[in-house]
Amino acid sequence: MGGHAPWRWALALLLLAPVSAQGLERGLDEVLGRALFRRAWVPAPSSTRANDGLGPLFNARSCAACHGGLERAPVPTDAAGTVTGDNLVLRFSDADGRPDPVYGRQMQTSAVAGVTPEGRLAVSGRDYRPADLAYGPLAPGTRTGALLAPSLGGLGELESVPDEALAAIAAENGRRDDGVRGRVRWVEDGQGRRRAGRFGWKASQPSLAAQVETAFALDLGLSTAGRPQPEGDCTPAQSACRAAPMGDRNGGPEISQDIVLRIAAYLASIEPAPGPEPDRRALAVFEKTGCAACHRASLPGKAGPVRAFTDLLLHDLGPGLDGGATEPGVASTEWRTPPLRGLSRTLTNGAGLLHDGRAATVEEAIALHGGEASSSRNRFMSLPEAEKRRLLDFLKSL
Ligand code: HEC
Ligand code: HEC
Repeated sequence: MGGHAPWRWALALLLLAPVSAQGLERGLDEVLGRALFRRAWVPAPSSTRANDGLGPLFNARSCAACHGGLERAPVPTDAAGTVTGDNLVLRFSDADGRPDPVYGRQMQTSAVAGVTPEGRLAVSGRDYRPADLAYGPLAPGTRTGALLAPSLGGLGELESVPDEALAAIAAENGRRDDGVRGRVRWVEDGQGRRRAGRFGWKASQPSLAAQVETAFALDLGLSTAGRPQPEGDCTPAQSACRAAPMGDRNGGPEISQDIVLRIAAYLASIEPAPGPEPDRRALAVFEKTGCAACHRASLPGKAGPVRAFTDLLLHDLGPGLDGGATEPGVASTEWRTPPLRGLSRTLTNGAGLLHDGRAATVEEAIALHGGEASSSRNRFMSLPEAEKRRLLDFLKSL
C-alpha cells in the first residue's frame, strides 16, 4: 500500500475524466475498469482522493480480493477451522428473505479502525457457520447461508440475452410434463424498470452495472447512485458503524457512475472459457437425460447464440439444496441455473461445485439435484454405463 508512483496520478486523472457520450474508446474503458477492479479502496477520510469511504463494515478492500483469478477458487481455511480467504460470504435472512435486524444481509468480517468486525467465518466439513459474533446473537428467526464467488468469464454474453427470450422459455416451461418449472426473477433495475434478474446464484441482478453497485454496497461498504447509503450493510443497531466517518462527498455517492460503468465494461470484456469441440453424441445424451431443460445448450444473444449451458431462470431444487438464508420473493431452495461453461476450469482449480461448493465432483453435484430436477437426476442414474461416461467426460471438458 501507499507510495505515489507517477502512474497512480495518471490513473487518478483518467478516472476523473467523464465517460463521453459515445463512450471513450471501448478498449480504454475496459483497461481502466480492470485497474478499478484490482484497486484497493481506502476508508474515509483520506487525503484528497476523490473516491474513498471503504466500510465502515466490509468483507474485502477490492473486487480482486474475492475474484482474484477471475475463476471460482477453493475456500482457504486454517487448521483451527477458520475461513482465511474472502471468496465465500455468509448471508443472513429470515424465512422470507428479510435481513437480520442487527447484522444486516451479510456477515462483514472486516471493519475500519474504531469499528468492530461482525465476526469470523468458521467451517466444519462443508458447513459454514458464523463464529465470535461481536454484536450479540442472531435474531431467533435468522438463518445463515454461504455463497461462493463465481467465475466471471462470458458474463457480457449472458447480459445480452433479451428479457423477452427468458420470459418465452419460462412460458414454455409451464407446459412441460417433467416437473421443470423455471421462472424469471423479475427485479427493479434502479431506474424504475422491471428487468429479468440473471446474475448471482439467485438471479438477483439484471445487469453487470447493478451487480457492481451491489458488490460495492455489500462487500466493500461503498455507496453508488443506485445504492446511495454510505453505511453499506451496517444497520441502525450498529451505532459505532453508523457514527464512523464516511466518504459521502457533498451528499453524493462515494463511487461515481463512471467507475461503475467502467468496471461493468471490463466485466463484459472477460472472455468465456473456449469450450470443447461440440460432441453431438454427448449432447444427445445431455438432452435426453433432461439436463438441457435447465442447462440450455444455447440462448439467443445479441452477437449470436450463447453456448453457456444455462437458462438464467430460477428453479426449485428441493430440500437437499436448501441454502438457508435467501432473498425476498425467492425460496431458500431456489437457484438460478449456473452456466456449465467453464466447468473444466472450476474442476482443475479444485473449487467445489454448487452455490457453496458442497459437491467435490460432477457426480456428487448431480446426485444433490432434487425438486424440479428429480426426474432428470433419476434418468442420469439409470443411464447405461457407457452413456454416463460419455456425458461426464463431456461435462468435464466444458
Ligand atoms: C467479499 C468477496 C467479494 C467481493 C469483495 C466482491 N465480490 Fe463479486 N461476488 C462474490 C460472491 C460471494 C458472489 C455471489 C453473490 C450472489 O450470488 O449473490 C459474487 C458475484 C459477483 C458477480 C456475478 C457473477 C455471476 O456469474 O452471476 C459479479 C459480476 C461480481 N461478483 C463482480 C464483482 C465486482 C465488480 C466487485 C467489486 C466492485 C466484486 N464482485 C466484489 C464475492 C465478492
Ligand atoms: C430443473 C433444472 C435443472 C436440471 C434438470 C438440471 N440442473 Fe444442474 N443445476 C441446476 C441448478 C439450479 C443448479 C445450482 C444449484 C446450487 O447451486 O445449489 C445446478 C447445478 C449443476 C452443477 C454444478 C454447477 C456449478 O457451477 O457448481 C452441475 C455440474 C450440474 N448442475 C449438472 C447437471 C446435469 C449433468 C444435469 C442432468 C443430469 C442437470 N444438472 C440437470 C438446475 C438443473
